[in-house]
Amino acid sequence: MAMITPSRVGRAIKWLVAGNPAQRRRVRHELARAAAAMFGDYPISDDYKLWREDKQFLDDFNRMSPGNPYSQDRKWTLREFVKLSNALPGDLAECGCYVGTSAFFIAQVSAHGKLYLFDSFQGLSDPDVPDADIAADVMPWSAGDLSTSEATLRRHLACYDSIEVLPGWIPERFKEVVDHQFRLVHIDVDLYKPTRDSLEFFYPRLVKGGFIVMDDYGFKNCPGATRAADELVASHRVEILRLTTGQGVITKP
Ligand SMILES: C[S@@+](CC[C@H](N)C(=O)[O-])C[C@H]1O[C@@H](n2cnc3c(N)ncnc32)[C@H](O)[C@@H]1O
Repeated sequence: MAMITPSRVGRAIKWLVAGNPAQRRRVRHELARAAAAMFGDYPISDDYKLWREDKQFLDDFNRMSPGNPYSQDRKWTLREFVKLSNALPGDLAECGCYVGTSAFFIAQVSAHGKLYLFDSFQGLSDPDVPDADIAADVMPWSAGDLSTSEATLRRHLACYDSIEVLPGWIPERFKEVVDHQFRLVHIDVDLYKPTRDSLEFFYPRLVKGGFIVMDDYGFKNCPGATRAADELVASHRVEILRLTTGQGVITKP
C-alpha cells in the first residue's frame, strides 16, 4: 500500500470535495485499499469492473433484493451460463428460488425451453449432520430460514411466460419432470439433503455439455451443499469448476 503522507491526505480531501468523477473514484479506491490493508480480508477486487456499471442489471437486482447487494456477482455469473446453454437443447430448472431473483435473470436470457422452479416456500428444511460441520464464526442454518411467499416470486416473474412453479419439499415434485432433459440447472438450497436429492435427480437428465450451477458450493456456511456436490463429482468422475464467486459449476462431458 502507498504511504499515507500529509500531502496524499490533502490531495484526497481536495479530490473528494472538488475532484472530477475519476479523481473521486480514485479516492474511494484508495480508502478501500487502506481498509483491506488494515482488516486483512476486505474485498476490493471488484473495483473498475464493467459489469458493476450495468444499470439495467443493478436496477433489476435492487428491485427484487433491495439493500442486499451480497450476491450480485453470482446472479451475473449465472446469467452468463444461461446464455452459454442457449446453444444446447433442453429445459432449465431451479431448486431453491426464494423471491425469484436468480430465476428472473435465468428467464431474462433464456432463448428456448421452459424454466421449472422448485421451492417449499416454507424456507429451509431441517439441517442434517453434514450441515452442522461449521466453524465457530459461522451462523448455523435453522429450519424455516428464508421462507417467503409464492405470490412474491410470481410478482417478480410476471413478465415471463415460460415458467412453471412447482411448490413443495424437494424432491416431492421432481416426478413431474421425470421425462425432461435439461441444459441448465441452478441449485441453491444451502443444505445437504435437498442439494444431494437435486443433484441425483438432475445430473442424469443433463444434456451433454449442459451445466449445473451450484450457488452455495464454495461457502463455509454451506458445508452440506459442498459435501453433496463433492460426492456427486466423485461418483461420476467429473470436475467441479470452483468459481471465485463461491459458485461451483458441473458440466456433463
Ligand atoms: C438461498 S434461497 C434461494 C435464493 C434464490 N436462488 C436466489 O438466488 O434468488 C434458498 C431457498 O431454498 C428453499 N429450500 C431450502 N430447502 C428446501 C427443501 N428441502 N425443499 C424445497 N425448498 C427448499 C428455501 O425455501 C429458499 O427459498
